[in-house]
Amino acid sequence: MPGKFLSTISTILLIFCMLALLKRCALPKQRRPLKYLTRLHAPFGILLLLTGLFHGILAGNTDGGNAPAMITGKLAWMLLLLLTIFALLKWNPGNIRWRKLHIVLAVSVFIAAIFHTVSAVVF
Ligand code: HEM
Ligand code: HEM
Repeated sequence: MPGKFLSTISTILLIFCMLALLKRCALPKQRRPLKYLTRLHAPFGILLLLTGLFHGILAGNTDGGNAPAMITGKLAWMLLLLLTIFALLKWNPGNIRWRKLHIVLAVSVFIAAIFHTVSAVVF
């Protein structure tokens, strides 16, 4: 089913993006796969924005979707859109304010995605 495929890919991409937090510790320097995953961080973020969008369109098209999940899904995606816009427009990873905003938005997207998945599965 393409719907399940896109939601699974989006979840995996979100986890890959969050792995950037591990850059602060020594782990990626030792583990090769982690090193490559953190290097592809920005492309994964843009891909996630697209897979999340298409998953949302598809979910809305199939019998109108599950209503609570449509709301939490839109919320998660809009936060993700803000995160991407700020990350690309104000591109300055060396700046402490850029990093703080990036982390706050990333954690918000992650929490919203957990709420979204629970609302999709439970209701
Ligand atoms: C931000 C990225 C997103 C992630 C990581 C994500 C993830 C998921 C997951 C894991 C599920 C449960 C598995 C499934 O039923 O397929 C799900 C279901 C669902 N999602 Fe999302 N989602 C995202 C964005 C969206 C958006 C933007 C919408 C719509 C506006 C949306 C609407 C739905 C709906 C309605 C369901 C219920 C199942 C269905 O009707 O297909 N999601 N999502
Ligand atoms: C187009 C989108 C994105 C761009 C351009 C981008 C860019 C960056 C950059 C340049 C860094 C600095 C890390 C480094 O030194 O390599 C970073 C860190 C990080 N990003 Fe992103 N990112 C994007 C999307 C995302 C998404 C979607 C998430 C998760 C939801 C995310 C979560 C994080 C986290 C948690 C860090 C670690 C911050 C730290 O520990 O300092 N990013 N991002």
